[in-house]
Amino acid sequence: MKKMIFVLSLLIIPSVIASDDKQVMNKIDNILKQMTIEEKVSLVHGDSLFSTASVERLGIPELIMSDGPHGVRPEQKSDDFGSAERTDDASTYLPTLTALAATWNPQLALRFGCVLGSESRFRGKDVILGPGINIIRTPVCGRNFEYMSEDPYLISKMVVPYIKGVQQYDVAACVKHFALNNQENNRNNVDVYVSDRALNEIYLPGFKAAVQEAGVLTIMGSYNLFRGQHCCHNDFLLNQILKKQWAFKGAVISDWGGVYDTNEAAYNGLDIEMGTLNRQTNKRDSFFWLGDPFLAALKKGTIPESVVDEKVRRILYVIHKTNMLEGSNRKKGEFNTPAHQKTTLGIAREAVVLMKNDNSLLPISENIKTIAVIGENAKRTHAIEGGSSMIKALYERTPIEALQKKLNGKIQVNFSQGYSSDKEAPVQLLIEQAVEAAKKSDMVLIFGGLNHNFDDEGHDRADMKLPYSQDELIKRVAAANPKTVVVLISGSPIEVHQWIDKVPSVLQGWYAGMEGGTAIADVLFGDVNPSGKLPFTFPVKLEDSPAHALGEYPGSNNKINYIEDILVGYRYYDTKNAAPQFCFGHGLSYTDFEYSNFKLSSGQIKLGEKIIASVDVKNTGKVGGAEVVQLYISDPDCSVLRPSKELKDFSKVFLRPGEKKNIKFEIDADKLAFYSESEKNWIAEAGEFKILIGSSSRDIRLEKKFQFK
Ligand code: BGC
Repeated sequence: MKKMIFVLSLLIIPSVIASDDKQVMNKIDNILKQMTIEEKVSLVHGDSLFSTASVERLGIPELIMSDGPHGVRPEQKSDDFGSAERTDDASTYLPTLTALAATWNPQLALRFGCVLGSESRFRGKDVILGPGINIIRTPVCGRNFEYMSEDPYLISKMVVPYIKGVQQYDVAACVKHFALNNQENNRNNVDVYVSDRALNEIYLPGFKAAVQEAGVLTIMGSYNLFRGQHCCHNDFLLNQILKKQWAFKGAVISDWGGVYDTNEAAYNGLDIEMGTLNRQTNKRDSFFWLGDPFLAALKKGTIPESVVDEKVRRILYVIHKTNMLEGSNRKKGEFNTPAHQKTTLGIAREAVVLMKNDNSLLPISENIKTIAVIGENAKRTHAIEGGSSMIKALYERTPIEALQKKLNGKIQVNFSQGYSSDKEAPVQLLIEQAVEAAKKSDMVLIFGGLNHNFDDEGHDRADMKLPYSQDELIKRVAAANPKTVVVLISGSPIEVHQWIDKVPSVLQGWYAGMEGGTAIADVLFGDVNPSGKLPFTFPVKLEDSPAHALGEYPGSNNKINYIEDILVGYRYYDTKNAAPQFCFGHGLSYTDFEYSNFKLSSGQIKLGEKIIASVDVKNTGKVGGAEVVQLYISDPDCSVLRPSKELKDFSKVFLRPGEKKNIKFEIDADKLAFYSESEKNWIAEAGEFKILIGSSSRDIRLEKKFQFK
């Protein structure tokens, strides 16, 4: 029996109310005392589709909310999702969250949050309905593009600065969807069963970081059920975990139309019910579960007034924290500035992942005189699609526009559509034309992948394959011209095994915002050295991925069991020795990085101590570039199954040619712990651990052992 050590720093920290918060609470209680019960109830549900009521006589403003995670959504009608037909709501379109996560650069997440916060404020929003951080459990989930990663540590590191950035602008971020909204198929009815261990190790850490490290002011419940109860009024998730264990002080907002019951909504931790729609007309209903029936129960005394008071207190806390109360000096924000556009470009440039680059086909050489640009995604814009996260972009630079701007006639571009999303399109003719264009050009760029017919809210993809006969297109084009580069536009993994050996170079370009095309062109021509790393695994085939190989998907009889448990993403592939197509953390560069001089400050560690791991990383190539140095920990000798390795730190470092830097990481007992089902707590077992340092989860360059005592 191994010695178990409770890792105290991860234990529940009871809410410690800071003294400034005490003053705030007094102020809030003062307002609360003056409110009638009708006024209180008016605050806990929507008044229009995206706002709550105001109480003017007490200076309580309405809370105006807006989607979404990567920009401020175009204005809608007050009672339905239809467009308000405004002409002043075209905005900055930031990269979607998988692209942001692919930068592995928390500083960019902060800048992202600042742009979003600033634009939200300018547009008069108080709550921005993002970020979305559900774990990417299956490659086919329709909303993967809105989320970040399969790894809770990467999510946590990126979500915290994002939220801080937004909230710096006196706008509340709303982290969503709490919790376990890992598929869109049957999203309103699916009842998720997952172990406490997987919940704590995989599905909750991002939310916990959002609450405890970023101080997120609002959180959105998810549509699905968890262990038999809808998540928007789930006692375990909202009361026990979020509010008691994590000491969340802000407000819980329902997903739009995600509420089903007055008593559960009253007692189980929900604070604001939003978007309840009349199911017949799809218009906002005058009925809210936390409206008339709630008021009646409060008046009758069947629900005590303290229940609504608690909700109103939290809402007033959000209002106070965003400087909305009278006399506060609230930030005004800015809209569509060149600086915002520059930030989107900076993020997009660091997001592009060089997946494969045989014979250094990329960057494109100066000898190239003609390029065939093939594929609908060379010309297609994406911002206005995808569901609630849609953006009316001020502009969206497509790849072909960006290429033409860059080349300025110096290289001849032969465009051919290659494939079409139009069902009636003549598939074979498009392929033939593309093959002809490929033959007469020095090299080929195929812009393919998905679009928001696939990466879309409300439904999952039926499979992981490329649509519109693109596999055949790529094979035929590559046979006609071996100098073929494939650029994939998608927010989720795609099967590439049919042609991956036939093309020398592949880029993952994401939906990278209004400057996504520019970023891709910059990488193709070497103006930017790619430094993105995959935030999720690309399996060879869908059947290989853990939710499909071990677990259940999409569930049956409205139930789903996450049987794969903690073996999500690379935790599964590595532990079960299943080879992925492209592994988590993968991404190449136009230069090479050499890792050396790996040292640990000590060979052993005790609870409360730290080991400093340090490593030199040198750019040994001829161009400057950035490397994401990844630190994984492995606990090979544990009494419970542990993933063969887990990401516990990373650092993105920029190096000029020949430059070397020393990177340091701190290892403490938190990084060794697992959630013990039997102890109902975080523990680490004494014994040997390994630290692995690498350029991806499967490109481990150095490793060392140490003892935990
Ligand atoms: C989505 C949320 C979104 C809300 C409001 C829901 O359908 O799940 O993410 O914020 O609509 O548009």
